[in-house]
Amino acid sequence: QPTLADLAQRHGRYFGSATDNPELTDSAYTKILGSEFDMITPGNGMKWYATEPRQGVFDWTNGDQIVNLARKNQQKVRAHTLVWHSQLPDWLTSKQWTATELRAVLKKHITTEVRHYRGKVYSWDVVNEAFNEDGSYRETLWYKTLGPGYIADALRWAHQADPRARLYLNDYNIEAVGPKSDAYYRLAQDLKAQGVPLDGIGFQAHLALQYGYPTTLQDNLRRFSRLGLDTALTEVDVRMQLPATEEKLAEQADWYRDLTGACLAVRRCVGVTIWDYTDKYSWIPAFFPGEGAALPWDEQLNPKPAYTALREAL
Ligand code: XIL
Repeated sequence: QPTLADLAQRHGRYFGSATDNPELTDSAYTKILGSEFDMITPGNGMKWYATEPRQGVFDWTNGDQIVNLARKNQQKVRAHTLVWHSQLPDWLTSKQWTATELRAVLKKHITTEVRHYRGKVYSWDVVNEAFNEDGSYRETLWYKTLGPGYIADALRWAHQADPRARLYLNDYNIEAVGPKSDAYYRLAQDLKAQGVPLDGIGFQAHLALQYGYPTTLQDNLRRFSRLGLDTALTEVDVRMQLPATEEKLAEQADWYRDLTGACLAVRRCVGVTIWDYTDKYSWIPAFFPGEGAALPWDEQLNPKPAYTALREAL
């Protein structure tokens, strides 16, 4: 039977999964990872703490492992992520930087990492999670030291280092129309008007049953398409309060069906990536105590109703 990737490709889209290095020793896991998906994202391996653990000392071990596995399986890679406030190495967060110093540190990091993966990745999440819920800029190290111009700078540096990579801004809680997605809409308009190399907006879509489905998702994706941007669902999971019941798993399946349908309905929504595919390796239980069961395969790697719903939607 056709895989999720096969089904997505019939629509000119991809269907992807995140993965992480420690899981790659699990051969039952890698078998499905290698067959069902045509896009892979490293869940941690390309983050700053992993790639530049000491200033000027770069470590590609984890990122390369995933890129090589993807190549072996003929999968593309959404690379993640260059500029973020989280998972930074201590040398970066424990020092007081002047703007001039920090700008040079950022430029070197972006240039070196993007060059290393040049020609090997489909896209980069250049800036991750730049806004607060109310649409104001998040007061990160980058924003506080460099001001809002760090975003345009980061995109330009990334483009110089790999002119072919599709460059994204990526965030959570921007699936619905609202203050946070409005902030991206205005920023995207602005960057486009200035000729900054921005190709797409990534909607993480870490959804939770208890907060309700983002019913304006499709309209929201469409307004970004109209700006001439690609969109993608980049880190999808649908968590619930445990224990999972048949009812909750059925509702979860509906959500997976609907969000996939929303992407397929919008011409420039290029694909869907789930934030790993099995509850065995989901980040949710560790970060949202009492919640979980967020992915289409269960902890035994058996498909859940959400998997069937994805197949139906595709
Ligand atoms: C998560 C990883 O899955 C975890 O393993 C890690 O401990 C924390 O980060 N938004 C993002 C991702 O952009 O990078 C995060 O990934 C999940 C939230």
